[in-house]
Amino acid sequence: MNIDSPTMPYNFADLEPAISRDTLVFHFLRHQRVCFDRMLAMVRGTELESLGLVELIRVTERNPAQHTLYRYAAEVYNHTLYWNSMRPRGGGPATGLVGEHLRERFGTHERFVREFTDAASAHFGSGWLWVVSRAGTVEILTTSNAGTPLVRGDVPLLALDLWEHAYYLDHQNRRSAYINAFLEELVNWETANRVLAELDAGAELRPAGRRAASDSVLRAGGGL
Ligand SMILES: [Fe+2]
Repeated sequence: MNIDSPTMPYNFADLEPAISRDTLVFHFLRHQRVCFDRMLAMVRGTELESLGLVELIRVTERNPAQHTLYRYAAEVYNHTLYWNSMRPRGGGPATGLVGEHLRERFGTHERFVREFTDAASAHFGSGWLWVVSRAGTVEILTTSNAGTPLVRGDVPLLALDLWEHAYYLDHQNRRSAYINAFLEELVNWETANRVLAELDAGAELRPAGRRAASDSVLRAGGGL
């Protein structure tokens, strides 16, 4: 198996009060870890066992008969990027290269915040909010359920979990309070900058490549 067990890049209580220790413990152990274990059980002993996580997601997404496995693998990937999209004492305007891209695309931090918040608030039901790199610019998009932009050819820079399990213990049904906390207190722009730097250095996302940019973010963030 070429996919290591997920780990957290900080302690469970480090994001308090924006996200409580209880939320992160449940989220990590009862959601991501369960997806990882089920994914592992489904690939063990099969020809898929040698694949890295990004490859596994892309291969299984193309085969409707493997969509249960695709969903587990995507949720492992999505959650690891999400953990790394946050840090203790994060938040605020974007810095570095991603800040330059966002200013080019949205003009001001305030407009970026408005479009990010509107997209995350308007998304119906469970899913994910993404900041992605696409053809030299950055975009905001959402996916439903376990969907991941990896399979569209976009390069995910940041992820925000919009499933209720990500915020209900702390914010109940107030998704907007959770979105604000992410932007003002948690977001970790260094993760986005790390991916962009790799892309600029020529580390293309390769459909069959195990050293894709997003793979290295996974490794940096906790050894997947
Ligand atoms: Fe989640």
